[in-house]
Amino acid sequence: MKSLLSIGVIGFLLVSSCQKEELSSCGNLNKSLADKVEFYCGTVADLSQIVNNQPYGQIVNSQFNSVTAENSMKSAYLHPNQNTYYWTEADELADYCASHSKRLHGHTLIWHKQLPDWILNYQGSTADWEKLLKEHILEIVSHFKGKVASWDVVNEAFNEDGTLRNSIWKENLGASYIEKAFIYAREADPNAKLFYNDYSLAINPVKRSAVLNYLNHLRAKGTPIDGIGMQMHIFNGFPENIEISNTMDEIWKNDYLVHISELDISINPQSQQMLSAPDKELRRQAEKYLYIFKAYERIPARYQFGITIWGVSDNDSWIRYTYNRNDFPLLFDDNYLPKPAYCKLISNL
Ligand code: G3I
Repeated sequence: MKSLLSIGVIGFLLVSSCQKEELSSCGNLNKSLADKVEFYCGTVADLSQIVNNQPYGQIVNSQFNSVTAENSMKSAYLHPNQNTYYWTEADELADYCASHSKRLHGHTLIWHKQLPDWILNYQGSTADWEKLLKEHILEIVSHFKGKVASWDVVNEAFNEDGTLRNSIWKENLGASYIEKAFIYAREADPNAKLFYNDYSLAINPVKRSAVLNYLNHLRAKGTPIDGIGMQMHIFNGFPENIEISNTMDEIWKNDYLVHISELDISINPQSQQMLSAPDKELRRQAEKYLYIFKAYERIPARYQFGITIWGVSDNDSWIRYTYNRNDFPLLFDDNYLPKPAYCKLISNL
């Protein structure tokens, strides 16, 4: 009994000294997450933050080699009126990426959210809607040709039960808007990788099968779809790790690039009172981040498009302002200091 107790104590001391070592060795950001892996490691980033918020800019610069615009490349921002495009902010982000050797991923061409009022209120025949869709995609993708490496062409087109979402696009164009969107995107930039992007793919096998079946059916007709984005806004407790790696496998085995496109790991899904992040949850979160990176490392390199983290610090996370709850889903804390998850990745990749 006594020896069991001492083994337990020694084990605890070893674990906690490892954790301390991890935390102290990663604090100065002298290593880069992107350098630790063979695939692209990205973040969502906002140009005004990169420019005006020094620690934020330093993290984006030093840790990542791929960037997704969180909002500035969505339709409401890029295409505010029928005959007006607003490029300034996205262009500045593209310039930043070009001058800092970051790949830029375009998010997102066709979605049911963050649409400008003129599209929401648009009245027209099917032919008018087709013209609208075509011009919107051709204009945007051509503008960024050679600057944007890849696009989320269609975002979140499926319901959880596997049926197609009854979005404004489907209402006016029928299901064919999906294939048309990919065809126009390819026409505008033959070199850009084209993605279908969605959430719940790991947690919901019904939706996952529906998405794969539908995309396979489109590809069989010649529709140019290169990859699938698994958003991965997930939780410490679910989905199970094995479901995550099985989903990556299923996607690449169907011959699609795999993009973990919007990764964050919530530790407070029940919206509890939580003034700070409990240590135990931070450690579980660190393990889960590491599991995902390790599982991703194991898929064949030719199918690895990269992992993108959806936010820099916890303070920037969409989860807090969207659900009005305190949560701590990212790799850096409110003061832009590395969290155990970052340290775990830097020390174990
Ligand atoms: O731009 C307005 C600004 O003019 C206004 O003053 C301010 C006041 O609330 O709101 C600003 O818009 C907000 C926008 O982010 C820019 O900050 C919206 O209210 C807010 O809803 C919006 O949230 C974004 C959300 O998409 C919209 O659905 C999040 O930042 C963004 O992280 C989130 O990202 C989505 C992906 O695109 C698709 N997958 C899910 C993911 C998380 O929801």
